[in-house]
Amino acid sequence: MKVAVYPGSFDPITKGHEDIIKRAAKVFDELIVVVSVNPDKKGLFDIPERVELIKRVVKPYANVKVESFDGLVINYMKTHDIKVIIKGLRAMSDFEYEFQMALINNKLDSSVETLFMMTNTEYSFLSSSAVKQTAMFGGCIKGLVPDEILNDVIKKVGNRR
Ligand code: PNS
Repeated sequence: MKVAVYPGSFDPITKGHEDIIKRAAKVFDELIVVVSVNPDKKGLFDIPERVELIKRVVKPYANVKVESFDGLVINYMKTHDIKVIIKGLRAMSDFEYEFQMALINNKLDSSVETLFMMTNTEYSFLSSSAVKQTAMFGGCIKGLVPDEILNDVIKKVGNRR
């Protein structure tokens, strides 16, 4: 069985993430979305909340699971004996960071491959940070995050202002 892990901070999941999930789920028998901690980013939603939001969005995809993991993604891969990491690339600006991550992960465990999927051009401008900032200043985020979680994001940002 071909299994892949799609790790990320997903704070919150965007339409761009959803697009990668939908496409990767067609290529692999099983896709596990793993909510991981990015120590460089300050969180809006806590990890269980992010998992719950993603679960709601991926409900139509029978072969997609959602989990969280506190620690190195490569340790998750080892524990579950999974050999493929999927990452989305939006633009050249993502490349250096993702390249470094892929190389570090490969150095930690050379049996694990990172595969990159190009984001649909429709979402190439999109990031969770841009969504949060837009919502925070009262901008419309419809079409930027899946409809299933739109109100959760607006409400959460409203509570934080
Ligand atoms: O969505 P993001 O913020 O770009 O995802 C980054 C993430 C969470 C995948 C990355 O920070 C990560 O892998 N965190 C877990 C710790 C880890 O494995 N780091 C890689 C070696 S530095």
